[in-house]
Amino acid sequence: MPEVTLRPATLGDLELLRHWDEQPHTVASDPNDDWGWETELARDPPWREQLIAEVDGRPVGFLQIIDPAEEDSHYWGDAPPNLRAIDIWIGEASDLNRGYGTAMMKQAIARCFAAPGVTAILIDPLASNTAAHRFYERIGFRFFDRRQFGGDDCFVYRLKRDDAPGE
Ligand SMILES: CC(C)(COP(=O)(O)OP(=O)(O)OC[C@H]1O[C@@H](n2cnc3c(N)ncnc32)[C@H](O)[C@@H]1OP(=O)(O)O)[C@@H](O)C(=O)NCCC(=O)NCCS
Repeated sequence: MPEVTLRPATLGDLELLRHWDEQPHTVASDPNDDWGWETELARDPPWREQLIAEVDGRPVGFLQIIDPAEEDSHYWGDAPPNLRAIDIWIGEASDLNRGYGTAMMKQAIARCFAAPGVTAILIDPLASNTAAHRFYERIGFRFFDRRQFGGDDCFVYRLKRDDAPGE
């Protein structure tokens, strides 16, 4: 497994995150969202972590973990407590398929379940994003629901605590 480290995203990452947002593979996975980076990187609400993944000090990807019951836009609707939801992407297409995403997810999962009350983690790839479905299934997520989020037709995948992969 490649050596991937996670650190908090800051305003210093603004241009990088905007650049990654313009890459065709990230646009395809998330065509309708505006992440409002300038506003979001400047705040640090208790229900969220925004993280940059690095390999040998080089940023390769972004990871967000939220508590869907507390998140202020209520993206997930009336979510029950004790869940987490993750968003993830690799920034440059040349960094895909090198194991970075798997390493990032394993660390994210460990962070989520480090809180003893957390029972499960949710992910909402587009219904059309079959590569992401395969990626999540290999990690242990299982299909749970099909839902519309704004204009997006999504599959909701769920990883229960008992199904979490080891280190
Ligand atoms: C989904 C995503 C985060 C996965 O990240 P990734 O770094 O490409 O994932 P990995 O490299 O760990 O695994 C992907 C593939 O590479 C293979 N792989 C894993 N480690 C590898 C390595 N060291 N060398 C070569 N290939 C490897 C895996 O077997 C996997 O194959 P599969 O597609 O047949 O299942 C990435 O594809 C991405 O950013 N996609 C665009 C955004 C997106 O779809 N995000 C999810 C929206 S919910």
